[in-house]
Amino acid sequence: MNSSADTEPWWRTAVVYQVYPRSFADADGDGVGDLRGILAHLDHLEALGVDVLWLSPVYPSPQEDNGYDISDYQDVDPLFGTLADLDELIAALHARGIRLVLDLVVNHTSSAHPWFRESRSSRTDPKRDWYWWRPPRPGFEAGAPGAEPTNWRASFSGPAWAYDEATGEYYLHLFAVGQPDLNWENPEVRTAIHTMMRWWLDRGVDGFRMDVINFISKDPALPDGRVVAGAAGGTAPDGLADGTASYVCGPRIHEYLAEMHREVFADRPGTFLSVGEMPGVTVDEARLFTDPGRGEVDMVFQFEHVQVDQGATKWDHRPLHLPALKAIMARWQAGLADVGWNSLYWCNHDQPRVVSRFGDDGAHRVASAKALATVLHLHRGTPYVYQGEELGMANAPFPQPQNLRDVESVKYYRSQVAAGRDPSEVMAEIRPVSRDNARTPMQWNGGPDAGFCPPGVTPWIAVDPDHASVNAAAQRDDPESVFAHYHRLVELRHREPVVALGDFTMLLPDDEAVYAFTRELDGVRLLVLAHWGAGEVKVDVPDGAAWADAEVVLGSGSGQPPAMVETDGTWRPGPWDAVVLRLPH
Ligand code: NOJ
Repeated sequence: MNSSADTEPWWRTAVVYQVYPRSFADADGDGVGDLRGILAHLDHLEALGVDVLWLSPVYPSPQEDNGYDISDYQDVDPLFGTLADLDELIAALHARGIRLVLDLVVNHTSSAHPWFRESRSSRTDPKRDWYWWRPPRPGFEAGAPGAEPTNWRASFSGPAWAYDEATGEYYLHLFAVGQPDLNWENPEVRTAIHTMMRWWLDRGVDGFRMDVINFISKDPALPDGRVVAGAAGGTAPDGLADGTASYVCGPRIHEYLAEMHREVFADRPGTFLSVGEMPGVTVDEARLFTDPGRGEVDMVFQFEHVQVDQGATKWDHRPLHLPALKAIMARWQAGLADVGWNSLYWCNHDQPRVVSRFGDDGAHRVASAKALATVLHLHRGTPYVYQGEELGMANAPFPQPQNLRDVESVKYYRSQVAAGRDPSEVMAEIRPVSRDNARTPMQWNGGPDAGFCPPGVTPWIAVDPDHASVNAAAQRDDPESVFAHYHRLVELRHREPVVALGDFTMLLPDDEAVYAFTRELDGVRLLVLAHWGAGEVKVDVPDGAAWADAEVVLGSGSGQPPAMVETDGTWRPGPWDAVVLRLPH
């Protein structure tokens, strides 16, 4: 059984808030959010009660992938402000007891980074080997279709190799063409990254969220991937293959992360947080990555639960089957119960808004946002709140292709239309899942452009029209708001050791309408019940009668008493009701 020992790391009771700076608050009136905009809204974070701010990239960047293409790791892009602004943000956060975690994007740089410029300058440049350069496939003319060194598909459509005419070779980019992959086999690359990380810690930052960090070790043989048949059989429509077997948790990944931990964090006084974003990570791998005894990272972002409503690709959006989601969550809870640690998230800058995805953004927006939050925040792990999630912000309409901004959505749209598909059909695929859903401006108030930018300025991406009713100003002082509910959840985690540390047991795994589980620590038990929908429901709660007179720790905050477990052990909730009960009182 887990215990509430005082030796637990600080981040086990913490809640992290993610800011996507481009979409948070525009102070200087160029339509793009910036550091001074964040500084102007720290009261919002303080009111929510969060412990950590994770800041998506603000480094100099051509912005092909909104800053995940970095051209200088040790500065701030003028779009977002200056290094002095960032220093001020660190100090202002620390004054409020909030830590700052930066995004570390070191699987790749921007093609505008001086390292890559040098690397591409000639085949004999000392930095040539800092990236993955390869000649054309034998028997093919350089630049011709199929001449790419492997058949891998990039994450943003098309081949993962770009041809460089000047030197007659290809470079690897698992993401956009402007995001060449660094070669971590080269020890100079690793040393340069460690030096840069230490420089940020010296400046006062408290850790890193590490972008696709489980992609940094590649099988140096770079074998072709297996071409999987398209829906109609034959080869994949683009003739390309999934190369992930060669770089997801590759051969030296544990060695690299342990080395990073030693070189950057191990001997440094202070308390830091490292969270590795790891698409494709398994529970068994995550146990190794987050075992404190191995000294790699504190926690990882896994992806299984946010792929539960996807078919073969993310564009193939399927209705949620609740038992499938529960099975994934339960497996991760059990898998990291004795060793390691979970991070908990529904939302981030790459995911559609959870209230639209898993909840009901129509008649039950408020109740479903609260129920989803209750479920997530009562799991064991460290919860992450993405800007606007605490307001119940929903997916945006994106009526036309020209409303899209995200490189992934735009490239997908173009590739599909170029292949002859009906544009309206492609838009219908993109709308529910586009990353742009997460990136519409933060809704501060019901005024023009939701108070995101000064009057008269056009934001870089359109504000969701629902800001008239869904906004921070309307919610901050309303005890029944989604915001107030998130605040209560954060407080509960800080106050109740069983929330942060207790054992987790999933109940009713096959029920399609109710998400139920218990938590237990040192004789204290919590029961969490959430009605995942709006239909009529009556469930038999396991050991239900025992909970009939339990204390209500948290209801739905709707002004009405929550549905209780009845003396016969049944629970009959209203639409999207959620309740947290405690025994003993
Ligand atoms: C994951 C980031 O979260 C995403 O926004 C980005 O496009 C890719 N990694 C590439 O850096």
